[in-house]
Amino acid sequence: MAENIIVIDEGTTSTRTMLFAADGEPLGSAQREFQQHYPGAGLVEHDAAEIWEATLACTRAMIKKAGGAEHVAAIGITNQRETVVFWDRTTGEPLAPAIVWQDRRTAADCAALKDAGHEETVQATTGLLLDPYFSGSKIGWALRNWPQLREAGERLAVGTIESYLIFRLTGGVHVSDATNASRTLLMNINGAGGWDAGLCDLLGVPMTLLPEITGCTTSVGSTDPDLFGSAIPICGMAGDQQAATIGQACLAPGQTKATFGTGAFILSASGTVRPRSANRLLATVLVQEGDARSYALEGSVFVAGSLIKWLRDGLGLLANAGESEGLARSVADNGGVYLVPALTGLGAPHWRPDVLAAISGLSFATSKAHVARAALEAQAYQAHDLKSAFAADGVDWADLRIDGGMAANDWMAQDLADMLNLTVERPDFVESTALGAAMLAATGAGLYPDLASAAKTMRGTATRFTPALDADKRKTRLAGWQSALANVLS
Ligand code: G3P
Repeated sequence: MAENIIVIDEGTTSTRTMLFAADGEPLGSAQREFQQHYPGAGLVEHDAAEIWEATLACTRAMIKKAGGAEHVAAIGITNQRETVVFWDRTTGEPLAPAIVWQDRRTAADCAALKDAGHEETVQATTGLLLDPYFSGSKIGWALRNWPQLREAGERLAVGTIESYLIFRLTGGVHVSDATNASRTLLMNINGAGGWDAGLCDLLGVPMTLLPEITGCTTSVGSTDPDLFGSAIPICGMAGDQQAATIGQACLAPGQTKATFGTGAFILSASGTVRPRSANRLLATVLVQEGDARSYALEGSVFVAGSLIKWLRDGLGLLANAGESEGLARSVADNGGVYLVPALTGLGAPHWRPDVLAAISGLSFATSKAHVARAALEAQAYQAHDLKSAFAADGVDWADLRIDGGMAANDWMAQDLADMLNLTVERPDFVESTALGAAMLAATGAGLYPDLASAAKTMRGTATRFTPALDADKRKTRLAGWQSALANVLS
């Protein structure tokens, strides 16, 4: 009997495929980085064909590890959200670059829609705000600016990354799960809502181009038998941040996680009642099992791991990402240095696509260790600002569960506990995103009666970090951050 789960985890910078046993034990992984294209200031693109090739190679490696496709009960897919792909339904080939969630090309379009008074309706319908981060304005822009998309006529299909991969894996099924669909600015997340005709109209997106919205544990089809030797059901899908929330077993209202990947995304489960933020946070679909939807309140920080990558690759300050921890520990404090990581504008709670990053407080006494420490400290400051916004919306965090590659940094985990003045819990297996998708697929495949049971069995052990910083020091540091942030925002 097939007893393993394969998860395809499409992050912003790499494709990773993981093999899990039915009890959640990770059995192996294969990873391939793909190219980031920056054709101009504020523009970020991916080549969906390259992502597909990487997916095939990594998935084949895990199928081999499992001993063949017949040993795989199901495939789960989780992905960078909001990134949009444009492809030809007859060939599956991309017709244009994929526009990545970090891309700011529609900042002026979104500002114009906001000035015209549309944000209130957008927020009430989608739970989101008018920001270039989300897919809708990117799709509208592409249809206006890339003639080959108009010329493709009925052959054109549009979708987020999971939608594209499902299309290629199945040989033609065009669907998107409700969590990914909820990030497009085009979906009514309330009740049993689907694509919203008014919003599609407002953003210039014909509804006929869009996939069918499905549940997250729905069996949407099986892989083309020619790809992996025999067909494997695909029955677990969620955007990566929702998947991590599930992987951290944050399903009961108030349970909160922060994932430190390319960006840092904090989601607090809200249960079946859709949250409404008065403090610039997002309401989003956390999961849809069958027709039953539950929601989360989200704070999206655009730059986290990508900051460390930039210190390494852009500035050459670090030889490798892991070095940041040793550098942060090597100095007694930040030496007055603050880094506001607005490298692609600022997300929640500011939503300022126009602002730029800054490093302040430099003197001849500043070393690269201070800058590395300031970069790690910025993670805790941004989480602190979100904690205040969540509290103002009536959601007080009892503790915070952290995950993602960067969460492996012990210094940062302790700094988060110190600055949030909260217990921070880190699972020993930090890839909660992939684990969450495995939980969804295992539920979809019938290995568990529901997601809550899968989460209970599959989540592993965790380490706790408790606050240990003197209150005055916390206050001084937060004041330094607030003043650096105010300069960036002014
Ligand atoms: O919304 C963007 C998010 O899904 C990207 O995730 O893991 O690449 O930081 P990640």
